[in-house]
Amino acid sequence: MKPVIALTKGRLEKQFIRFLEERNYNVDPLLDKGRKLQVETDQFFAFFAKGTDVATYVEYGIADLGIVGEDILMEFQPDVFDLLPLPFGKCRFAIAGEPNQNPDQRKQRIATKYPNITTKYFRDQGKSIDIVKLEGSVELAPLLGLADDIVDIVETGNTLRENGLVVKEEMFSISARCIANRTSLKLKKNILSPLIDSFWIEEVIK
Ligand code: PRP
Repeated sequence: MKPVIALTKGRLEKQFIRFLEERNYNVDPLLDKGRKLQVETDQFFAFFAKGTDVATYVEYGIADLGIVGEDILMEFQPDVFDLLPLPFGKCRFAIAGEPNQNPDQRKQRIATKYPNITTKYFRDQGKSIDIVKLEGSVELAPLLGLADDIVDIVETGNTLRENGLVVKEEMFSISARCIANRTSLKLKKNILSPLIDSFWIEEVIK
């Protein structure tokens, strides 16, 4: 019996495959998958989904483990075991907007894919804001006048730069995380342990 891992499609997927390669896993089935959404490797079954759905599949026990951005855990608080941080998917949350924008007296309006994280961050600072929830390409909002600023993830900074936006305030750093279904952790310990053990890195242990 092999463990089932839910993998976040896109950037994290590529970085996770590199992470496995460094640990001498045969990653050919993951690289050669084409448009297939499910893959079997020598050590595990994997399927590919959006980050929010990865957390859902793990919560419901369809996947034993999941590789997901910390942003998803913070925003949606799924009922999963947050097992360990991983040394990739490193980026930061920031408030960003147009440079030299004149703050006016009305309430600041923030566009974001992360209303819960944003609300908490500003509330903790004692600030009241209006939030506009978007699903993507959040950088458009200040450019088109939908919001004053955005709260979003910055990785390379390229998206901000290429759209003429700047970071106004660094909020906090995040990374990819390995999450686990709570029941799987107890009932499938034997088959999960080798995989989980190989994911531990010095940086995590310190
Ligand atoms: C994320 C994020 C930024 C961008 C930051 O979006 O929301 O837009 O990546 O990365 P960078 O600093 O390396 O440019 P994503 O690519 O997931 O697409 P989305 O806007 O459709 O959500």
